[in-house]
This record gives sequence, structure tokens and C-alpha cells, in this order.
Amino acid sequence: MSTQALKKILTPFEFEAYSPLIEEILQLKKQKNAVILVHNYQTPEIYHGIADFTGDSLGLSRKAADLDCERIVFCGVHFMAETAKLLNPTRKVLIPDLDAGCSLSESITVEDVRKLKAKHPGAPVVCYVNTTAAIKAESDICCTSANAAKVVNSLKTDKVIFIPDEYLGKNVARETNKEVITHPGRCMVHEQFTKDDIDAYRKQFPSIEVVAHPECHPDVVKAADYAGSTSGMIDHIRKSKSQKIMLVTECSMSDNVRSLFPEKDFQVPCTICPHMKKITLEKVLRSLKEDVFEIEIPEEIAKKARLAVERMLQI
Ligand code: 13P
Ligand code: SF4
Repeated sequence: MSTQALKKILTPFEFEAYSPLIEEILQLKKQKNAVILVHNYQTPEIYHGIADFTGDSLGLSRKAADLDCERIVFCGVHFMAETAKLLNPTRKVLIPDLDAGCSLSESITVEDVRKLKAKHPGAPVVCYVNTTAAIKAESDICCTSANAAKVVNSLKTDKVIFIPDEYLGKNVARETNKEVITHPGRCMVHEQFTKDDIDAYRKQFPSIEVVAHPECHPDVVKAADYAGSTSGMIDHIRKSKSQKIMLVTECSMSDNVRSLFPEKDFQVPCTICPHMKKITLEKVLRSLKEDVFEIEIPEEIAKKARLAVERMLQI
């Protein structure tokens, strides 16, 4: 994005504070032959200021698989950078802060998956991309919020084990005839939204269109007009004729979407993802300068985890 365009998006104070860092990152990125991938939940100065590509988990995974640069700097959370490494193992994949985790990814252990498999023999394991490589290695196929129902419906069995997002699993169950076994994992951001929030906005603004992420409770998703991945939400808004939109998702995504569609009016009961916010311009600069923090996955785990992700990409 040009300096002039960025000036319109950031406050004067933000612009003054961030533009020297942005300049330095953009120069270093070229020198180091790096590509910066940015998730839709990153803050506006990262999303609009330094990204080569922005997107949801599926889009960024696909992009990562195709890159032939020396370094990929992932502005997102750890499982996303790990997925990039699985799909493009010969590149150096860097995450600016190793503590950028995810409540869903932390909600399940390898032991939990083995117990579920023992309890439901023969049922394939579908793992949400918001999991560690070790969990993916225990799974038959991966999915993202953009393709979860499609992945589940592609399987031949009547029963599937869906991990670790209970709400996404239940939302998917409504789009399939299969029995969906879930695990009690939750997104700490999306579990906070309630149907009452939606009812209150609808009461105040009867013409409002409600757009939600499928990590929300099934009652919230049922009450929404559209539910989809973060990029699915953006595409939906782009096509929508509605002037007033309620966005039921993370805060920075709401900021980014507002600047993408300045002609629309957004109502945003947003919640911050503290993991996504671990990534800052200062840390991206350090990441490029010092080549930190490199994602490494033991080969025996990577081999199995990659299969689960590649099976998803084939669908
Ligand atoms: P998307 O794949 O829809 O971008 O979602 C990732 C995520 O972590 C949402 O909370
Ligand atoms: Fe994980 Fe939720 Fe943050 Fe997405 S928003 S990274 S699911 S904690």
C-alpha cells in the first residue's frame, strides 16, 4: 500500500510511529529475499503496511506452498507458520514471536486424540488447521473454516471425529448427515459472542446483516446471515448490498475490513485475540534482521502431518 493510502488508514500518531519501521521492514525484506504472509487478524499497520499476501488460513497455506523465496515471515499464529513449513519444507519459515499460540491448538493433546480413536474405531480424524503438527500427524485429514463441511462430506464413513473445535464441529454437523464426534476445544475469542448480542443489534438496526465466523457457538451461527472463514467473510461483504453490517469476529479484522469498505457502516462487538497481537512491527523487523524464530518440525512428525494437510488441499 502507498504511503498516502496508509496515511488515511492510520491516525497521525500511528503513522509517525510506524512509518520508519515499515520502511525498514520493506527494505530488509527485499535484501533478504523474504515474503511476508499476513493473516486477516493482524493489526492494520501490519496488514496494510508490510504484507505481500493477506488471507485466511487456507489461502495463506496455499500461498506458502507456492513460494520460492528464501524466507517466509509469518505474521499470524504458530500453527499457521507450522503449516507453511509443512507445505514448503525447504524454505526458512520465521514467526516473529514463538508465543503467538491459539486456545484451540492448546486445547488438545496427542493422548486425547488416541483416546478418541480408541473409543470410535474406524472413524477418521478430521483436524482443524488450528492444531500443532503433532496433532495433525495423528489425524487423517486437515480442514480449515473455509472447507470443513466439504472435507467431512468427502469422507466415506458415517461417523467422523472432528477436533479440536467443538463449536466448529457442531456447525459442520448441521451440514452433513454424518455423526460428528467433537472435543471440548474453544476459541477464546469467538466463544464470547452470544445470540443475545445479535438479537440486541437486530433490535436496534432491523436492516443489519450479520456476518460471523464459524468458531462461534452454533446458536450465534444460526442467528447470523452468513458464516465463513475470515476471507469468506470479506468476500461476502464485498458482494453484499447491505449498508450496515455486524461483524462477529476478532477486533483487528474489523479494523481492516472497515478500511477495505469505507462506504459501509460496521457494528463490531469485537474481541481481541491476544495471540495474534503478539506480532508487532518491531518483532517483524527483528525476525528479518536476526532470522528468528525459525519453525522446525521433527521429520517423523512432519511426514505424517504433511499428508493430512496435502489430503485437504487435494479436495
Ligand atoms: P480463518 O482460517 O478463517 O482465517 O480462521 C483462523 C482463525 O484462527 C480464526 O479464529
Ligand atoms: Fe486461535 Fe481464536 Fe486466536 Fe483464532 S482467534 S488464533 S482460533 S485463539
